[in-house]
Formats: sequence, C-alpha cells, structure tokens
Amino acid sequence: MNQHDHRAQYREAPEPEEGTRATPKIVLAWIAILIVWGVGYYTWQIGKPMLGGDSRSAVAAVQQEPGPADDAGASGSASSESPDSGGGTAAAKADGAAIYSAQCSACHQANGQGVPGAFPPLASSEWLLADAAIPVAIVHDGLQGEIQVAGNTFQGVMPKFGGTLSDAELAAVLSYARSEWGNSAGEIDPATVTEHKERFGDRGDWSAEELKEVFGEP
Ligand code: HEC
Repeated sequence: MNQHDHRAQYREAPEPEEGTRATPKIVLAWIAILIVWGVGYYTWQIGKPMLGGDSRSAVAAVQQEPGPADDAGASGSASSESPDSGGGTAAAKADGAAIYSAQCSACHQANGQGVPGAFPPLASSEWLLADAAIPVAIVHDGLQGEIQVAGNTFQGVMPKFGGTLSDAELAAVLSYARSEWGNSAGEIDPATVTEHKERFGDRGDWSAEELKEVFGEP
C-alpha cells in the first residue's frame, strides 16, 4: 500500500449501511394478533359441518326460524288455523328434502325408485315404511347383505350415516322419505334416533336377517 491508496480511502465516504431501526412493536403486535386469530379460527372450525358455509347445519338453520312463528300461531287463533302445526312440518320436510338430495339421491335416486339390480327403491319399501326403529337402524348404522325390497332382491352396501348426520337430520330425512313418492308412514322423532343410539351404541352394519331377528318382520 502506498500513500496514494491511503489518501484515496480517506477521501471516500463510508459505505452506506442499512438503517438498523427495529420493526415497530405495534406492527409486530399486529402480526402476532393476526396469526393467533388465523390459527384460532381454523382450529375452532375443525370438525364442524361445512353446510352453508356459516357453520350452521341445515337442520339448525330451519329449527331456529319456525320457533317464534309457532309460538305466535299458538298464542293467536290457534284453533282455527291448522297450518300452525303444518308450518313446522313443512319446514322439516323442506329440510329433509335437502338432506335427501345431498346424501341419498345418488343411490336411491331423486324419485325414490332406486336403480334396478343395484340400489333398492324407497318408494313403497316395506323396510322404510315399517316401525320407525327399522329405518333408523338402517340409516344410522348401515346395511349390507341380501335384502328383499318390494319383491326384488338386492345385495349391496348401504353406508352408515350415524356419524355424518345429526339425530335431527336423520329423523328429518327419514320423515321426508316416508312421506314422498306415494309413501305415507308417520314422521320420525329425533328422540327415536337417540334411543337407538342408547340401545345399540356404535355397532356395525345390519343385515336384513338381523333386522328381522331384532325388530321382527318389516
Ligand atoms: C352409496 C349408496 C347409498 C346411499 C348414499 C344411500 N343408500 Fe340406502 N341403500 C343402499 C343399498 C345398496 C341398500 C341395500 C343394502 C343391502 O343390499 O343390504 C340400501 C338400503 C336402504 C334402505 C332399506 C331398503 C329400502 O330400499 O328401503 C333404506 C330405508 C335406505 N337405504 C335409506 C337411505 C337413506 C334415507 C339414505 C340417505 C340418508 C340412503 N339410504 C343413502 C345404498 C345407498
């Protein structure tokens, strides 16, 4: 190194440096809040049904609305207006219809006729129209093996819906199917589904034979 080099170095300005000011605390706090909120919201949503995107299941949404309307009907001119109770029933049916088209119609078809040789009909099915305990058992726990429905033999696998549908949804979809396509069996009460769960717990599929043994001929 000679003198000239030194002089040149002294003449130059120092290399510019990045400012070392820290990120403002308020910004860090915001980032932390957003992360906590995001993760929290995600965890909170885990396991919730995604129907409708607002975390309400179809049944919950329907059940909230008729409540006050029913009260109003009951306290008003209840005796002259039979649609009072009919209002609730219509709502339950609409809801059962939605669940049916989402969960059952792929196999049993929108018209309840099933697919010959593959999926049994629900229209005029002795199993569906039998004592409520039988259809509840089938849909809650699933069914497989040979079964005679309306004079035809089927052998397939019906998935269980116990984990997928709530008691109220299960009752609603069965009540709907029991009153559609010329069917006219009584509504099914969600309590029947609850009783079924208490009696049989978390069991596997039924077969037609087992159903007959436990509940009698449909
Ligand atoms: C993946 C296709 C599939 C879906 C979805 C399905 N089922 Fe089934 N279901 C079947 C099959 C197959 C059988 C006959 C099982 C057998 O052969 O033992 C059956 C049988 C039945 C039976 C008794 C026989 C009859 O025809 O009445 C009922 C009642 C029934 N299903 C109701 C329902 C309801 C209600 C839903 C919707 C919540 C539903 N199923 C969804 C395939 C399906």
